[in-house]
Parts: sequence; C-alpha cells; structure tokens
Amino acid sequence: MSTMAEVIEPTAGTISAADLASSQHSRATVGDVTVADPRMTCRGVDVWYGAKQAIKGVSLDIGKHEVVSMIGPSGCGKSTFLRCLNRMNDTIDGCRVTGSIKLDDVDIYDAGLDPVPLRAQVGMVFQKPNPFPKSIYENIAYGPRIHGLTNNKAELDDLVETSLRKAGLWEEVKDRLDQPGTGLSGGQQQRLCIARTIAVSPEVILMDEPCSALDPIATAIIEELIDELREHYSIAIVTHSMQQAARVSQRTAYFHLGDLIEVGETNDIFTNPKHKLTEDYITGRFG
Ligand SMILES: Nc1ncnc2c1ncn2[C@@H]1O[C@H](COP(=O)(O)OP(=O)(O)OP(=O)(O)O)[C@@H](O)[C@H]1O
Ligand SMILES: [Mg+2]
Repeated sequence: MSTMAEVIEPTAGTISAADLASSQHSRATVGDVTVADPRMTCRGVDVWYGAKQAIKGVSLDIGKHEVVSMIGPSGCGKSTFLRCLNRMNDTIDGCRVTGSIKLDDVDIYDAGLDPVPLRAQVGMVFQKPNPFPKSIYENIAYGPRIHGLTNNKAELDDLVETSLRKAGLWEEVKDRLDQPGTGLSGGQQQRLCIARTIAVSPEVILMDEPCSALDPIATAIIEELIDELREHYSIAIVTHSMQQAARVSQRTAYFHLGDLIEVGETNDIFTNPKHKLTEDYITGRFG
C-alpha cells in the first residue's frame, strides 16, 4: 500500500529526439478545453510507458468548484491521465510524462518540486477503498501529523472530527474511533478514504472509479458527497458509468486511445455529442 509518507523518486523524465519525433499528437480536441477560472491547467501532455504512448498531447483545464468526469473505453488512458495530475505516474517504472501541468501557477513537474506535499494538495481516492491497517482515528490523523498541520492533540481531534463530518461519516463512527478502519463496510471505507484525503487540506481531489466496488446505496451517498465537496474542492473523477458522470459532473471529457476527443458541458456531451467517436461511445455502439 502506498502512503503519503513514502517519498518516491521520479523516473528520469528525459525523452529522446526519436521519441519526440514519434509522438503522435492529439487530433484537435472538439470543444473548449479551457475554463475561465482554472485550478489546474494541462497543456500538451504526453505519457509513455516505455516505448508505448498512452496519452497523446492532451490539454485540459480543471476549474475551481467543478467536477470534471473522464469517460472512455477501457485502456483509453483515463487512469494514466488522472495519475499525471499528482505525479502518481512517478511511481511506475518506465513511465514518462512530458508537457505542462500546473496547479494554480506552479509547474508540478518542476525538478525542485517535492511530490509528497503535492499529493496532499492533489489527493487521490482509488477504486478499491484502501484504509491503512490502523484505527479509524489514525487513518485520518496520520496525514495531518506527518505534514505538521496541527499543534496539539485537541487540534488534531478537531481536524479528525471535521474531516469525518465533511465526508458524511462522523455519526456512524464517532463512538468507535479506536476500532480498525478495515472493519467498516465498503461504502464507509470509501468515505473514510475521502475523509483522509480531505484532512490534509487538498485543493483538488482525484477519484478513479470510486464507486465501482460499492452497492447502489453507498454509491448514492458518495455521489451526494461529491456534489457537496465541489463547494470547497476541484474534483476530477474517472467513471465507467455514464449515468454517474451525468449526475455528478459539470464537464465531461471523452478519451479514446490516448486522445482527448471531446470535452464540454456534461449535458451537451450526453445529449448532443459533436464527435462521432463520442456519439458511438455514449450510445453504446463502442466500448
Ligand atoms: N503500468 C503500466 N505499464 C505499462 N502500460 C500501462 C501501465 N498502465 C497502463 N498502461 C497502458 O496504458 C494504456 C492506458 O491505460 P489506463 O490504465 O490509463 O486506461 P484506463 O482508461 O484507465 O482503462 P480502464 O477503464 O480499464 O481502467 C493501456 O494501453 C494500458 O495497457
Ligand atoms: Mg483505469
């Protein structure tokens, strides 16, 4: 299990001239990849696994207070692109990222930038809930403690409570904070992981299919939570459920074989897709 405390050295990010020459740049994305008030800006992002290019010249903004969903057939690069946004790809041997990705005005791939605090600012929630093998309290307190966010036990207690409240879990766990996080139900564990992410004051939350292991009731709770979290955070969510994308996101990005094919208002993408590949996917003819 990876923890925020692990310092993972980036793999050498150099790309040879031959690689660059073979870079297949994206067909122009249909729709406006920019927003008026961006939190993150990605420009011309390429990702390679060894010699294989998985993301091709993708540019996309993630706005403040918005949920962007990323959809597309299996293997099209959704998780790869999401992992670029907090340098989780650094942890994969042979994975190289080029192009520009900024959080506010800071280039997150700057050689001097420490990815550990970055991964607190741009937090990630995974498909399978992955609580630490520690108590519910410690799952939340761990991050703030290693990042030095509180001065004493009372402040830490407060932060644990506030984070669990924001994640809609406090009432269910307040009487058993010392019990293992792994003893919660799947939906509760996923909210615990969201609370853990929130506890270190992120600006952006990345979610990679956060509900795919959950039943419809737990899914509905998480979706409601995502909508509430938008007030404070920018959220990018990968989902295989078009209904979920339609319910939770304001903008939707459609990926296909490493290209960002189309991006737009979620409602427009689902009711009036402009690119044939988008239309084929959302009407179920592909993927
Ligand atoms: N660690 C890795 N090493 C090598 N290739 C990888 C690695 N991870 C992903 N890839 C390849 O990169 C491409 C994009 O994969 P990615 O996991 O980003 O797709 P995805 O859209 O998230 O798919 P899914 O919907 O199945 O989760 C695929 O061709 C995949 O095989
Ligand atoms: Mg994936």
